[in-house]
Amino acid sequence: MMSAGTLITLDGIDGTGKSSQAKRLSRSLDDRGYDVLLTREPGGTRGAESIRELILSTNDIDWSPASELLLFFAARCNHVEQVIRPALAAGTIVVCDRFTDSTRVYQSLSPEADAVLEAINAHLVRMEPDLTLILRSAPELAQERVRHRGAVITRFEKGDAHRHAKRADAFDRILARFPERCVAIDADRDPECVAGDILACVLERLGGGS
Ligand code: TYD
Repeated sequence: MMSAGTLITLDGIDGTGKSSQAKRLSRSLDDRGYDVLLTREPGGTRGAESIRELILSTNDIDWSPASELLLFFAARCNHVEQVIRPALAAGTIVVCDRFTDSTRVYQSLSPEADAVLEAINAHLVRMEPDLTLILRSAPELAQERVRHRGAVITRFEKGDAHRHAKRADAFDRILARFPERCVAIDADRDPECVAGDILACVLERLGGGS
């Protein structure tokens, strides 16, 4: 009972090289003749990209944590309905840079709010990836990469080492919580090596191993 397409997500703290690995993966799959769609969150549709602008580029608006959580989900619902679900139905491999695991890590507020987060996910998103690659990096190294990237640093990327280390721990808990779906990838190595591991892992899943 294989669903037509496959949803593969890449996740992890900021500065792991996730976005460039997502690009490399989609290119490698495309080279092998797969029908691939590369997309990202927040974003992937006109509506969701507008929400991305709102959340990430408007530093003068003080979104409360709860409204931020809902904005990420509004973007995700739009993205899933308009792009991801139709692509999967058409048999496409969707490679998505970040997905619900980012919300679980970045927008976790309290056990009660986390239960609401999971209910929104279960009833409104109604989709988990087939495979999630969690890129793991030492928080100090990841922060260094963010600083040297030359792009504007968003408020999610700001914060002290402690905040980044807490998020790295939260991603490790995601790995433990969803062992069937999530695979850890050591991102503190040569990017070629990381890309090779990611591709091998994806090809193994696509090869129909259980
Ligand atoms: P990302 O696109 O990975 O950043 P960049 O383009 O700078 O590499 O993600 C943007 C930020 O949004 C990132 O710092 C994490 C944050 N984020 C959340 O807080 N919750 C979410 O659900 C998602 C998808 C992203």
